[in-house]
Amino acid sequence: MKKKTVAILLTAMMAMSAMAIPASAEEGTKKIGIAMPTQSLERWNRDGAYLDEQFKAAGYDTELVYSDNQIDRQVNDIQNMIADDVDLLVIAAIDGEALNTVLEEAAEKEIPVISYDRLIKSDAVAYYVSFDNYTVGTLQGQYVVDTLDLDNAGDATYNIEFTAGDPADNNAGYFFNGAYDVLSPYIESGVLNVVSGQTDFDSVATPSWDTQTALERMQNILASYYADGTQLDVALCSNDSTALGVSQAIESDYAGDNTVLITGQDGDEANLANIVDGKQSMTVYKAVANEAVVTLDLAEAMLNGETVDGSLIEASAWDFDCAYDTESYETSEGNKCPSFLLVPTVVTTENLQEALVDPGYYTMDDDGYLHPAE
Ligand code: BGC
Repeated sequence: MKKKTVAILLTAMMAMSAMAIPASAEEGTKKIGIAMPTQSLERWNRDGAYLDEQFKAAGYDTELVYSDNQIDRQVNDIQNMIADDVDLLVIAAIDGEALNTVLEEAAEKEIPVISYDRLIKSDAVAYYVSFDNYTVGTLQGQYVVDTLDLDNAGDATYNIEFTAGDPADNNAGYFFNGAYDVLSPYIESGVLNVVSGQTDFDSVATPSWDTQTALERMQNILASYYADGTQLDVALCSNDSTALGVSQAIESDYAGDNTVLITGQDGDEANLANIVDGKQSMTVYKAVANEAVVTLDLAEAMLNGETVDGSLIEASAWDFDCAYDTESYETSEGNKCPSFLLVPTVVTTENLQEALVDPGYYTMDDDGYLHPAE
């Protein structure tokens, strides 16, 4: 081989081996700012950890912050990440309407933004990654319809109360509407009866998705409408943190002897224990590890300057379902936000093993209780 050819080959090999060095060891490693709402609601600890691990494993530097559910603090935390020159922001907003100004600052510095799980109402958002939020609610509603066999109720009637999420969280309305749309025909026909009369989102919402707030509201409802022995059949709760408070209120303040059907969402550890113990009927599980995978692959494509559309799904060959949706969500009137939406799953005592343990999301003790996998 001629010397020149060897030299060219060596140069090519050196270039290739340089490419193989993990980016973190390189000059100019890209940095991802990850802003999560709070550690006090269980799932965000998992989201934060998965995102942080996966971006690091792919060779990025990361800055992960939790803002204790305080809107001003999240604005400040994001401002600090912008000042630290992050290359991309992944944000799960505390208040979807409160980040406009800070995201304008990000846009000025050309820092792209992925709205994670909760939609941020700012046109500075490039993409939205979440689960199909409306479907989460329909799964909860349909669970009630199927479990009580409402289509064949005959003369039977059932009493139901609703508990929804945080009005500042854009998801909360989707969850509530999904459930309500499935159940409203039965409310209208009288098969379901909302004894408190509280059926609009604002009356049933729970600021900050707070367990204690949900508990106290349900205690008030039980004292006002059920203390005379009226039976409560269903507590439709939008997620697990609210379901936890509602089930505690029912345990302490409800005199009826029937089991109340309680819905939830997330697969929080305490709620899965309640499902095992028969105190909660179901939860809608969202595999946040997969939500982090989609976010990483999307971020990489964006940072590489690729055109991102539904072809990312085929190119990435994920082993889970995800839809590319350009219609359902908008960051402002008429401004559609391209979204990657994963598929939620109903979990009950019947499928704890297949849905949560077999895929490796949780481990199960000998006594049947589940714990998030390390
Ligand atoms: C998430 C839910 C979660 C709730 C409270 C929502 O935005 O989508 O999974 O239960 O926030 O943390």
